[in-house]
Amino acid sequence: MDALIAILPGDGIGPEVTHEGVRVLNAIAEQYGHRFERREALIGGAALDALDIPAPEATLDLAREADAVLLGAVGGPKWNDVPGDKRPERGLLNLRAAMNTFANVRPVVPHEALRGASPIKEELLVGVDMIVVRELTGGIYFGEKQRSADSATDVCTYTREEIVRVLRIAGQLAQQRKGRVTSVDKSNVLETSRLWQSVAREFFAEEFPELEIEHLLVDAAAMHLLSRPRDFDVIVTENMFGDILTDEASMLAGSMGMLPSASLNAGKKGLYEPIHGSAPDIAGQGIANPCGCILSVAMLLRHSLSLEAEAAAVEAAVFGALDQGYRTADIAIAGAPSVTTREMGDAIAAGLPAGD
Ligand code: IPM
Ligand code: MG
Repeated sequence: MDALIAILPGDGIGPEVTHEGVRVLNAIAEQYGHRFERREALIGGAALDALDIPAPEATLDLAREADAVLLGAVGGPKWNDVPGDKRPERGLLNLRAAMNTFANVRPVVPHEALRGASPIKEELLVGVDMIVVRELTGGIYFGEKQRSADSATDVCTYTREEIVRVLRIAGQLAQQRKGRVTSVDKSNVLETSRLWQSVAREFFAEEFPELEIEHLLVDAAAMHLLSRPRDFDVIVTENMFGDILTDEASMLAGSMGMLPSASLNAGKKGLYEPIHGSAPDIAGQGIANPCGCILSVAMLLRHSLSLEAEAAAVEAAVFGALDQGYRTADIAIAGAPSVTTREMGDAIAAGLPAGD
C-alpha cells in the first residue's frame, strides 16, 4: 500500500526514539512491499527555535494531509520561561486540535518479562490488560486562560457532544474486549464531571446496554489502579484526569518508556506518540527506551493503515527483544547491564519477519 506518514521528532529524546520507530517502519515497508512516504516536520521547542512558533502552519498542513503522524516528544527546560501560548507543549496541543484527535487510546499491558521492573507487587500485575481512553481536545487544557501577577484562571468546559464521541470510542473498544467500562470523573466536586457522569449513564444505557459500566471518582480510581489493576478493561475519562492516570498506570508496565498511544479522530487518521515526555535529563545520551515509540508505530499500522499483520509483527518483535533480555536503562534490573536506544532498536528490527 501507499501511505504518507508525517514524522515529527520534536525535542529531547524525541528524535532518538523516533529514529528507531522510523527504522521499524522502513523495515516493515520493505518486508511487506509497502511504499511509505515519510516527511519530517518541526514541532515543539525545535519549531520554536527555528521559526518562533511551536506548531508551524506547514507542520499542521502536513499533519492534516498525511495518513498518519508519528511524534516523538516536546518540551524541555530550555523553554521554561517562554510565555504559555508559545511553549513547546502548546505546539502539541495545537497539533492535536488541528487534527481533531479527540480520543487518546493508551493501552497498558505489562509484559511478563518486565514484571520485576514495576514497583508494584508482581502478583498484582498478572493478567493486567487495560486501555485508557483519554479525552484529548477539550477540558481544562483548552479552556480560556487568564493570568495577572497574583491570580490565574484555567477554565474547564465540556459539551455533551465532546463527551459522547469519546465515550463511543471506549464503548466500541470494550465491545471487542471484556465488555467492561470504567468512567472516571470528579462528580462530587466538578460541574463538568456531573455532566460527564450523567451523559455517560444515559449514553451507555442506550448505545451499549450489554456493557458493564462502573463510575469511579478520579481520586479513588488512582488508588484502585494500584490495588486492583487486573479488574480494569477500558477506562474512559476527561483530558487532565487521563493525563495523570496514564503516567500512574505506566508504572504497572515497568516504565513510562514502554507505553504507546494513538490519538484518533472520527476517521482513520491518527497521531501516534509514546506517552513519555522529552526526558531532558537523559536526552542526547542514546539511552532512551524506544519501545513506547515502536509500539506506537504498531498502533499506527493497525489503526490508520489497517495493516494488522504488520502491527502484530512489530509487537511480537518488541516483546521478543524483551524476552531475550534486552533492557534499556529504565527497565534494567538494578546493577545489570543495559543496552542503548540503538541496540534496543537493532534487537527489535532483528526480530521482524525477514523479507523474501
Ligand atoms: C502527554 C503529555 C502532554 C499532555 C504534554 C506534553 C502537553 O504529558 O501526552 O501525556 O499533558 O497531554
Ligand atoms: Mg502526560
